[in-house]
Amino acid sequence: MRAMKNIVILISGRGSNMQSIVRAARSEQWPCRIAAVISNRADAQGLEFAAEHGIPTAVVASKAYPSREAFDAALQAEIDKFAPDLVVLAGFMRILTPPFVEHYAGRMLNIHPSLLPSFPGLATHRQALAAGVKVHGATVHFVTAELDHGPIVEQAVVPVLPDDDEHTLADRVLAQEHIIYPKAVRWFVEGRLRIDNGIVRVAADANPPV
Ligand code: GRF
Repeated sequence: MRAMKNIVILISGRGSNMQSIVRAARSEQWPCRIAAVISNRADAQGLEFAAEHGIPTAVVASKAYPSREAFDAALQAEIDKFAPDLVVLAGFMRILTPPFVEHYAGRMLNIHPSLLPSFPGLATHRQALAAGVKVHGATVHFVTAELDHGPIVEQAVVPVLPDDDEHTLADRVLAQEHIIYPKAVRWFVEGRLRIDNGIVRVAADANPPV
């Protein structure tokens, strides 16, 4: 097994989840290299952070391609230049075609701001408030062809408070995203994740902190 795993992170905007992963990988010295941060939008704020941290960046502009298939093919070619062991979707706002998803089967993770399988799709915090749920949260999962589905790696739960609006709830969930996403990526990098009949099993830490 190669010691250093290559990670490619895909973003569309702010990139705060990407930042939390980059920071954790560096401060905790994971056996990986953040090989590239790729955006489908040239104006994604996260690109600046990546460049400032010495991470190669690329833009594959979704609006420059005539079809989903053409865009996904171009994106795949760009990602594969970096020989990724893992592709991390971090606020990457695109629906992906089945061949693209299949190409990265078992090596592509996503974070979704709800407790899946509740509230797939967009505006999850609005959906949660409208449903009147008392808890909400975030999910890290392996990506499969069905949108916001796929084997669940980790989840975090937050309370929904009586005075919440979409923004206060989103902020509470985002703080948890920044904890569970680095944790899940680290598990992958350490080779601790196994998918068993659609259920993710996390192996014990071989080197627990003393
Ligand atoms: C996060 O809430 C993520 O779960 C959702 O979009 C948001 C992206 O935020 N898919 P950021 O770009 O990581 O800051």
